[in-house]
Amino acid sequence: MNISIAVLPGDGIGPEVTAAAVRVLQAVAERSGHRIEFSYGLLGGCAIDATGQPLPDETLALCQASDAVLLGAVGGPRWDDPTAKVRPEQGLLGIRKALGLFANLRPVKLAQPLLHASTIKPEVLAGVDLLVVRELTGGIYFGPRQEARPGDEVAYDTMLYSRPEIERVARLAAEAARGRRRKLTSVDKANVLASSRLWRRVVTEVVQAEFPDVALEHVLVDAMAMHLIRRPAAFDVVLAENLFGDILTDEASMLAGSMGLLPSASLGEAVNRHGYPRGLYEPIHGSAPDIAGKGVANPLATILSAAMLLRHSLGLEAEAQAVEAAVDAVLADGLRTADIADGAGPVLGTAAMGQAVVERLALRGG
Ligand code: IPM
Ligand code: MG
Repeated sequence: MNISIAVLPGDGIGPEVTAAAVRVLQAVAERSGHRIEFSYGLLGGCAIDATGQPLPDETLALCQASDAVLLGAVGGPRWDDPTAKVRPEQGLLGIRKALGLFANLRPVKLAQPLLHASTIKPEVLAGVDLLVVRELTGGIYFGPRQEARPGDEVAYDTMLYSRPEIERVARLAAEAARGRRRKLTSVDKANVLASSRLWRRVVTEVVQAEFPDVALEHVLVDAMAMHLIRRPAAFDVVLAENLFGDILTDEASMLAGSMGLLPSASLGEAVNRHGYPRGLYEPIHGSAPDIAGKGVANPLATILSAAMLLRHSLGLEAEAQAVEAAVDAVLADGLRTADIADGAGPVLGTAAMGQAVVERLALRGG
């Protein structure tokens, strides 16, 4: 298979973690007889520095011409001036929107070797295996907005959803539940927000009409924040609008032990030349400017995102599982990066951790 991947390393630790994931993908390609061509593009702060734009046209064209996109992270203190005209995050939101990536899949699975490293009690964590489906191109991130102006210190953001936007993401989440434990928890704030009342009504209709075999429950977002810590193993697929999903997945990452472990896949309707969704794959963590350039960041979230890329955008399920198994093996062998160090095993840097994954890849020719 001839594969083209657009790599957008971005800012901060982005270049380090994407380099490790590219190494893993190269090893997968070598050992399974596929040819992967990597092309690099600018996104975020580095793109602002080079072109003045957080999402240059060439970057978008590159992504549209590729089978899938691998992204690191964007942002940093250098571009944090609140009065700046352009911000790195606009590049990230812009590319999600421009590629029509309305569904963001964030699986949260407890890595068994990290059970006792978590700040949460092992008996609460046992059996955690959930998938958050976050709506990614609507809601308060994209609704009408007014910045505060000098002399008129009023600002607002609008949480806006239309029926089709809710229907398509509800369908995708229910479909995912069908392939898992057939349980769907839809998160909203329907006791206060009009957009949430529409959300709840449309999700109910879609599931009742098209997925009668999926058990649907509705949970208010504040209660969900509590239940995620109290009984996380009770959830299968969790569906949430953009901002609620953003917040809940940072919380959920603590169930897995670290932000450095959670991958994500963003999917839409666009299909690549192999007939699979042209997805964008990125860790859920940010650019971590405090540790950028030190070579200590955990690359596993990006490596696991690369596994999702193999699965969702290329249909290479065996290869995806091989990468995930290699990550499991690394953790089982006691290897740790600084963020998950438990004092028991060796602490590796970013590149060494990536190399450890490559060495444990059980693929033909390996
Ligand atoms: C995420 C991040 C982004 C978001 C930021 C960097 C704009 O927090 O991917 O979760 O809010 O979507
Ligand atoms: Mg976030």
